[in-house]
Amino acid sequence: ILKYGATIISWEIEGVEQLWLSEGAKLDGSKPVRGGIPLVFPVFGKSNEKGFENLPQHGFARNSTWEFLGQTTENPPTVQFALSPEQANEEIYSKWDNGDNDFTLFLTIQLNNDNLTTSIEVTNSDSIKSWKFNWLFHTYLKINEIEDTLVNNLPGELCYDQIISETYKESHPAIDFHQELDRIYQNVSTDKIIQVIELGKVVHNVQRENLPDIVVWNPWIEKSSNMGDFQPKDGYHKMVCIEPGHVNDFVELKPGQSWSAKQ
Ligand code: BG6
Repeated sequence: ILKYGATIISWEIEGVEQLWLSEGAKLDGSKPVRGGIPLVFPVFGKSNEKGFENLPQHGFARNSTWEFLGQTTENPPTVQFALSPEQANEEIYSKWDNGDNDFTLFLTIQLNNDNLTTSIEVTNSDSIKSWKFNWLFHTYLKINEIEDTLVNNLPGELCYDQIISETYKESHPAIDFHQELDRIYQNVSTDKIIQVIELGKVVHNVQRENLPDIVVWNPWIEKSSNMGDFQPKDGYHKMVCIEPGHVNDFVELKPGQSWSAKQ
């Protein structure tokens, strides 16, 4: 885990890597990490909403150096990170409502034998002002071959397709990949476990708490060739992003209130 972005860049189960990390990812704090689990806060993508319109894509949590709070339990190994305005990337934070929103983020990462749990708690630390935010875990899962991969359990769900800028109900029995795919599945019951299936075998199960939306993304050929830090260029075969979040609308927090969620 890097302190920069509190980005998890590797997670193994019995020696087998579960996350995709670009060979061209910058790990020196010069830009958000391409791969692993970047954190998206306080906005997903770009927004014209008042207070968010000047923020760059995906906000500042992924380009801020978080404070490492330490290991909270030994078994299972659990560590915590925090971010508040003092540590936040100053230039970007000041673009969120003129840097006028006092917040505290606590990220807890727990490594179990067969799963990784990441939990987030967002607190409005202001004494008078309410504000709102999006949250998303931008998880890059490692797979062997995108064309052998299906994502399960999304039929019937409403989705906003970012490629064609249209909203529709998912009618396919499973999601398959033959070109760039960038969709926000909205308000999906957290009872549904999102499965990544490769050649008939479940290779990842994504469980959520309090994260109703799921972004499914693969950049395919053209988009990945336009990303300087996406290496190797055919790396899109080896990854799929399943990103649990609260992004379809904003979560509003009154002074002193907290919100928490996990994947
Ligand atoms: C995804 C978005 O979450 O992140 C995509 O749905 C976007 O539209 C992708 O391209 C990567 O974003 P970035 O800012 O890391 O290049």
